[in-house]
Amino acid sequence: MKLLVILLFSGLITCCGGNSSHSLPSKLLLVSFDGFRADYLQNYEFPHLQNFIKEGVLVEHVKNVFITKTFPNHYSIVTGLYEESHGIVANSMYDVITKKHFSDFDDKDPFWWNEAVPIWVTNQLQENRSSAAAMWPGTDVPIHNTTPSYFMNYSSSVSFEERLNNITMWLMNSNPPVTFATLYWEEPDASGHKYGPEDKENMYRVLKEVDDLIGELVHRLKVLGLWENLNVIITSDHGMTQCSKDKLINLDLCIDRSSYTLVDLTPVAAVLPKINTTEVYNKLKVCNPHMNVYLKEDIPARFHYQHNDRIQPIILVADEGWTIVLNKSLPKLGDHGYDNSLSSMHPFLAAHGPAFHKGYKHSTINSVDIYPMMCHILGLKPHPNNGTFGHTKCLLVDQWCINLPEAIGIVIGALLVLTTLTCLIIIMQNRLSVPRPFSRLQLQEDDDDPLIE
Ligand SMILES: *[C@@H]1O[C@H](CO)[C@@H](O)[C@H](O)[C@H]1NC(C)=O
Ligand SMILES: *[C@@H]1O[C@H](CO)[C@@H](O)[C@H](O)[C@H]1NC(C)=O
Ligand SMILES: *[C@@H]1O[C@H](CO)[C@@H](O)[C@H](O)[C@H]1NC(C)=O
Ligand SMILES: *[C@@H]1O[C@H](CO)[C@@H](O)[C@H](O)[C@H]1NC(C)=O
Ligand SMILES: *[C@@H]1O[C@H](CO)[C@@H](O)[C@H](O)[C@H]1NC(C)=O
Ligand SMILES: *[C@@H]1O[C@H](CO)[C@@H](O)[C@H](O)[C@H]1NC(C)=O
Ligand SMILES: *[C@@H]1O[C@H](CO)[C@@H](O)[C@H](O)[C@H]1NC(C)=O
Ligand SMILES: [Zn+2]
Repeated sequence: MKLLVILLFSGLITCCGGNSSHSLPSKLLLVSFDGFRADYLQNYEFPHLQNFIKEGVLVEHVKNVFITKTFPNHYSIVTGLYEESHGIVANSMYDVITKKHFSDFDDKDPFWWNEAVPIWVTNQLQENRSSAAAMWPGTDVPIHNTTPSYFMNYSSSVSFEERLNNITMWLMNSNPPVTFATLYWEEPDASGHKYGPEDKENMYRVLKEVDDLIGELVHRLKVLGLWENLNVIITSDHGMTQCSKDKLINLDLCIDRSSYTLVDLTPVAAVLPKINTTEVYNKLKVCNPHMNVYLKEDIPARFHYQHNDRIQPIILVADEGWTIVLNKSLPKLGDHGYDNSLSSMHPFLAAHGPAFHKGYKHSTINSVDIYPMMCHILGLKPHPNNGTFGHTKCLLVDQWCINLPEAIGIVIGALLVLTTLTCLIIIMQNRLSVPRPFSRLQLQEDDDDPLIE
């Protein structure tokens, strides 16, 4: 019976989903609004984004990767890899062997990026396809000697309008056609840091601005005739949590600055001891109860944050809302970077277009699952990665997907159908068995022997 149901449904899917014209290559626009915490969607109003979702899909929580910072998470989305495997392990890095430094202001050395191959590079290696980018981290770097055919050097002062204008222009009139494009915007991250996510009034204003930008994006795509055929994913790199001046961890109270180099500070500190690792570790270990201190070899496996030379010998992980400082006052009212199992660190994902269902809600996926899904949409062979394509099947029109409530529904439905069929068969059999005596009677009638007993 199960087989029958599956056959029935796969038939349905092939007949109804088969119209996606394979003549034109699918196009995908990947959009990130930095620091868009998943539950902003429940706690604030987003009329434009909600319209987008109504006609598309929503994933309420995207479990991102540790550490929950901007550069590492943006690179995980486009490679499907954990940080230890793609090599962008923080916004601030130091490589002991080459003595190179990386920071968000000094990120253009391909050395840092070449441990992975981002999707815009893979897309461009396909014949007759190009990629375009409006500011996504890494898109202005020649990774494996390749930049997107169309890109912008990073500058926070370029307006959303200009980024949108140029990316849509590239999507419309390029040869070979742009089939993969990215668009990045700094809000609501910047305001989340400045005001803290619990500042309802300021966050309301900023999130309304973000929603208006989404409205502008959809409007532009409609005006240009791109809306119906373009797949659009709107997502983010991480969430945001409230910090407090009462939740400071001052390393200077525990250890002399001269005994270590601080590669990254908060909320995950990367510590490179100068002489004696054990000594530094022992001092930090007892420094503050709101901070976990790990030797590199003891970092919990669930973080997938260990097997890379750029991860320093000791890392410190502050508890949610706590800030690590060097004898300073609180630097920001909101922050991220914390444990990726905290829901405050999770972003969301919404998507719209011919590849996606309409009006479908899904509770959770991992951020590394986005990459194999994008490769599927673009018809690209994914590089080895840590994502699972199966996790996103329910979002896609050309996939067979089943979850528990649906499975129960289908089984009950199938039982009803079978019962009805059985009843019908019984009734039919009864009907079929009735005419026989009649025909005999008719014969008898012909014999002029009436219906008398
Ligand atoms: C199938 O595709 C054709 C052209 O590509 C389109 O005109 C038609 O409306 C589509 N039908 C369905 C059911 O989507
Ligand atoms: C690539 O595009 C050119 C011109 O648009 C066309 O002549 C050629 O057949 C295309 N190649 C493939 C493999 O689609
Ligand atoms: C956007 O396109 C315009 C017109 O082609 C160009 O002058 C401008 O430099 C582009 N902006 C960026 C940031 O690349
Ligand atoms: C980006 O900056 C580099 C170095 O300043 C410059 O050579 C290049 O032309 C710029 N690229 C774009 C697309 O603006
Ligand atoms: C912290 O800084 C103040 C001055 O800003 C200085 O007086 C104090 O000694 C410092 N404390 C530590 C532990 O370094
Ligand atoms: C490092 O410090 C620990 C604890 O203070 C000490 O036992 C050990 O001998 C030191 N090791 C070296 C190589 O100095
Ligand atoms: C993640 O994927 C990479 C590439 O396939 C692989 O080398 C690595 O072992 C994977 N990590 C985990 C934790 O499975
Ligand atoms: Zn960010």
